[in-house]
Formats: sequence, C-alpha cells, structure tokens
Amino acid sequence: MDRRKFIKTTCSACVPASLLSSFVLNACTPTQYITGQLDKDGLIVNKDQFKIGDKGSFASFIVVRNENLLFPICIYRFNESDYSAIWLKCAHMGAEVNVVGDTLQCPAHGSEYNNRGVVTNGPAVSNLRTFPVVVRQNDLFIDLRKQS
Ligand code: FES
Repeated sequence: MDRRKFIKTTCSACVPASLLSSFVLNACTPTQYITGQLDKDGLIVNKDQFKIGDKGSFASFIVVRNENLLFPICIYRFNESDYSAIWLKCAHMGAEVNVVGDTLQCPAHGSEYNNRGVVTNGPAVSNLRTFPVVVRQNDLFIDLRKQS
C-alpha cells in the first residue's frame, strides 16, 4: 500500500474511534448517588451535590435514591438555574431506566430518552415523567406533587 492510501485509510478509521472514545468517556463518568431530603411536598437537594472537587466543575447529573421513593430520580444540571428532574420509571412497561451520560436507557426493551426525559427511541411512545425544579438559594426543590 502506498503512503497516501495508507494515511487515507487509517485516518478515516481514527475519526469514528475518537468520537467513540469521547462518548465512552462521557458515559463512564462515575455517577453521584444521593438520598436527598424528602418533605411532604417534594425533595430538597443541595446544589453543592453537583460540585466536583474544588475547581468549579460540576457533574452534569446526580441520581437520587431514597428508600421512600419507588424509583430513583435523575437530576440534570444544564446551568446554575436550569435543571431537569426525571422519574426513572420507563414509560413503556415500568422498568427502571439506567442513566448513561446524557442518555437514559431502559434495559428491558431498549427504549431511550434524552436528558429532558423526551423519548428518542421506542418501543416507548411517551416521555418519562418529569417534575418542576425550583432553585432556592443553595437548594433545589423538586415538586413531587406536580408533573412538568
Ligand atoms: S419497559 Fe422500558 S422499554 Fe419496555
């Protein structure tokens, strides 16, 4: 194989590999699990739970697992004032959905959702349940009485 053909062949193979490694690294970020604080109307989570180290970095999501909740709730942080809170119960047949970076995947039949809970791949035909998130100084209040 001549040099030009070799470079053309190997570089076209490298681009998908670099994209794949980026996806894998994002998907493999350790998940932060917390219990949060339940009150009669909802869930309270301290915003500091998103902090990573002391260099001003933030996790893109955390997962609330609380024995008083039937399913976990994933909270995505988009910026200081924009969050989504998603009930991790699949809209298809109710299996627990897994968080894989910015994608939510159901292990039962393969439905997928984005980080706003919107279905992106069936067999589910409806979105995941989401809750309003109110930013209160250094806390988030997830209103479990309502659906956003
Ligand atoms: S229960 Fe989730 S895809 Fe079927």
